[in-house]
Amino acid sequence: MSRPPLSGKTIVLGVSGSIAAYKAAELTSRLLQLGAAVQVAMTPAAARFVAPLTFQSLTHRPVITDLFAPTSDIAVDHVALAQQADAFVVAPATANTVAALAHWLAGNPGATLALSVSAPMILCPAMEHNMFDHPATQANLALLKQRGAVIVEPEEGRLASGLVGKGRLADLDVIIGTVRHVLGLSGDLAGRRIVVTAGGTREPVDPVRFITNRSSGKMGHAIAEAARDRGARVTLITTTPPPVQAAAGVDVRRVATALEMQAAVAEAVRGADALIMAAAVADYRPAAAAPQKIKKRNADGVLELQLVRNPDILASVDAPVVKVGFAAETENVLENARAKLLEKGLAIIAANDVTAPDSGFDADTNRVTIIHASGDVEALPTMPKIEVAHALLDRVKALLD
Ligand code: PMT
Repeated sequence: MSRPPLSGKTIVLGVSGSIAAYKAAELTSRLLQLGAAVQVAMTPAAARFVAPLTFQSLTHRPVITDLFAPTSDIAVDHVALAQQADAFVVAPATANTVAALAHWLAGNPGATLALSVSAPMILCPAMEHNMFDHPATQANLALLKQRGAVIVEPEEGRLASGLVGKGRLADLDVIIGTVRHVLGLSGDLAGRRIVVTAGGTREPVDPVRFITNRSSGKMGHAIAEAARDRGARVTLITTTPPPVQAAAGVDVRRVATALEMQAAVAEAVRGADALIMAAAVADYRPAAAAPQKIKKRNADGVLELQLVRNPDILASVDAPVVKVGFAAETENVLENARAKLLEKGLAIIAANDVTAPDSGFDADTNRVTIIHASGDVEALPTMPKIEVAHALLDRVKALLD
């Protein structure tokens, strides 16, 4: 098992007084599960929404509730603590806290703490939509952004007042993804640009039908997430429709057909370092999609579809990038994979036997054999797809270095 992605990282989590403060408890728990050490600091207003004991029980650390209490050792130590932090996350950030942070308002505990933090600041606003939309709040957020803070935009939805608008605390997956992205920026792939493809292409037959395959997109999304965590700038070209969310901090291009994927890849690889194609691309598409829904009126009960070959996307890329492919095989796995490596001019191919239940399509794990252009072959054990992703990125990094 690889180390949890946030192990060794210290996160100071500032919680301010919004009804969304209860979500900060779940956020704390998830950051801890990812291996981070979390120090919670609460404004007095936040402590009225959620008891500090909740956070203390989760983190096994005293919660900073009053930076100005003369008797509080931990408050006196806040400068040291802030200096150790790898990230300062404020979630939820109220309009008041956003203003205090923007203008370093003396007397505000959040602002006092933030003054001592040199780590990147990630702000997750949550407030009534009219407060969020107010020019004062927008100007404060712009100022903080200008100083380097990362803003995780709130979501549209039903607010505490019962009104609907933009102001709900962002989804925790998005907040955590942003934290991982920001913390990963100094990772071993920092400065690299990696293009990843995911999912099965959809080739239209008529306006309501298409030809596709069993790819869920999990393998490609895992590679994008792992590369993002290691500091790469990632472009993910995916056919997987929402609600499958791409990792925060990843530039996502959604496509449907092989031809659309080819065009997106051709554009994205310009200036990139590596292209990793985990997508299952249809080798054939209907010669022409019928303009109207095809009816079952033909007398003999047979429908003939004429299919034409799709271009080979990997083979068509001649940009100077490290090209990595996957081979989805049901028989003669290594032999077929080797042939694809040569035909497509790849540096590496990851062969997976897609007939095994714990490997290939839709599984959360995969068992791949990595074949290098040099002829080296490495058979990896069955692993979660995120670990397969890291193993492949280790090889890509070695080639780039
Ligand atoms: O998405 P999941 O459910 O997580 O499943 C993962 C996976 C099984 C889809 C993945 O591990 C995998 O094997 N992806 C490649 C699937 C595939 O199309 O294999 P292939 O052997 O047909 O193609 C070989 C390589 O050429 C692939 O990298 C493919 O992206 C690429 N290709 C294929 C056809 C084509 N016209 N252009 C291409 O570039």
